[in-house]
Amino acid sequence: MPWSEVRAAADYEAAPEPLAAAPALPAQPPHPQSRPAQPLHQPPWHQQRLETQSPPQAPSARPQAQPQPQPQPGWRAAEAEPDELAYRPPTSESLTSDLLLPGKRATPDGGWRRAVYRATGGLVRVGESSASVRRRDLVSRIRTPVAGGHHRVAVLSLKGGVGKTTAAVGLGATLASLRGDRVIAVDGNPDRGTLSDKVHLQTRATIRDLLNERALVARYADVRAFTSQAPSRLEILASDRDPGVSVAFSADDYRAVASVLEHYYSVCITDCGTGLLHSAMAGILELADQIVLVSSPSVDGARSASATLDWLDAHSYGDLVRGAVVVLSAVRPRSRSGVDLDRLEQHFAARCRAVVRVPYDTHLEEGAEFELDYLDTSTAEAYLTLAALVADGFTRPGRPVADAAPGVPLA
Ligand SMILES: Nc1ncnc2c1ncn2[C@@H]1O[C@H](COP(=O)(O)OP(=O)(O)OP(=O)(O)O)[C@@H](O)[C@H]1O
Ligand SMILES: [Mg+2]
Repeated sequence: MPWSEVRAAADYEAAPEPLAAAPALPAQPPHPQSRPAQPLHQPPWHQQRLETQSPPQAPSARPQAQPQPQPQPGWRAAEAEPDELAYRPPTSESLTSDLLLPGKRATPDGGWRRAVYRATGGLVRVGESSASVRRRDLVSRIRTPVAGGHHRVAVLSLKGGVGKTTAAVGLGATLASLRGDRVIAVDGNPDRGTLSDKVHLQTRATIRDLLNERALVARYADVRAFTSQAPSRLEILASDRDPGVSVAFSADDYRAVASVLEHYYSVCITDCGTGLLHSAMAGILELADQIVLVSSPSVDGARSASATLDWLDAHSYGDLVRGAVVVLSAVRPRSRSGVDLDRLEQHFAARCRAVVRVPYDTHLEEGAEFELDYLDTSTAEAYLTLAALVADGFTRPGRPVADAAPGVPLA
C-alpha cells in the first residue's frame, strides 16, 4: 500500500454500524473517588513490553466487572450518588457525530473491500481487515502526546555501517508524517555524518552554525534557518561537512544544541556516530530518554549490538537498556544466511523492550534521499511498528537539559 494511503487510513475512523435504536448518551465521567486512569507508579520498562505482532490485549486478570444498570438518556450512570439521580437535561456533549450521522460510512482503506464498496455505490461495506485495524492502532500510538513537551531518542550501535542513519531517518519521517508536532533528526556524528544525504538540503548551515549563533535564536523561524525539511515534515540538522574543521563536536556542544532544540521540537532523534566513546556520546547518552539500538542480522553484528548493551549496563545506563528498541536492519526475506533470526530476536527481547525487523529494501540500499512513498509495503510497516514502539515511550516525561545528571565518565 503506498504511503499516501497509509496516511489516509490513519485519518479514517471506523463508522458505527447503523443503529437499530436510538443510541445511549455518552457515559458520564468517572466519579471523583473512582480508580485513577493511570497507575501512580509506572512498572519498569521491561514489564511494559509490548507485542509487536498483534494489538495489545486487555489484561486477563482484570477485576470482575460489577453488573451496572444501563445508563438511560438524561440519567447519570450507576456511580451517581442517590440524591443525584435526578433528571438532567441533555447537554451539548450529547450531540456527537455518532448520534447525528448514524448512516455515515467511511470508505474502506484499500483492497477488494474498497472495490466492493465502490461497485455497490456504498451499499455493501465489508468490515475492516485485521491489517487495517492493526495499522490504525499503530498510528494512534504514534500520535501519543509527548509528556513534558520534549523527548530525545538516540539511535546508536558499536558497529559502523549497520543502518543507524537509515533507521533514524525512517523513524523520524514516519513520526513526522503522522504527528502534528515538530520532529527533528540531528546528526550527532563527531565528524562528517551522512544524515544530510537523506534529504534534499535547503541550507548549507550545520550544527556548528547553530551552536555558534544559538544566542540569536528567539523563535522557531530562527532555528528553522539551520535545518532542512523533507516532504515527510521531518527536519534535519546536518553535521559539519567542512574538511578544514579540526575540532570534533563535543558533549558540551551537544548539550548546548539540545537546550535550544527542546524549545521548538517535540521529538529529537539523534543519529549517533559509530561507537560509544566518541566526543559527543557522553552528552547524547546523558540526555537520551530512550535508545534505538541498530544491529545487522549477522553473528558479528548481533554480538557487537549485545556488547553495546553490556557497556551501557556497566555504565549506569541500565534504564536505557531495558527501554531500548532493537532494530535488526536490512533483513532479507529469502536469505540463504544460516543465522537464526528468531533466536537473535529472543536474545534482544529478553534484554530490551522490543525488537523490530526492518526488511532489506532496494530504495534504502541506494543510500540517497529517503522517501516514504518509495518504500516496500513491508518496510513501511516495519517503520510504523518502530515508530509506535518508540512513541509508547513518549508518556514518560523527558529530561530538560538543565536537569540532566552530569555525564558518566566514558572509559
Ligand atoms: N533496510 C535496508 N535495506 C537495504 N539497504 C540498507 C538498509 N538499511 C541500510 N542500508 C544500506 O546500508 C548502508 C549503511 O546504512 P547507514 O548509513 O544507515 O549505516 P550507519 O550505521 O549509519 O553507517 P555509519 O556507521 O557509517 O554512520 C546504506 O548506504 C544503505 O545502502
Ligand atoms: Mg550513519
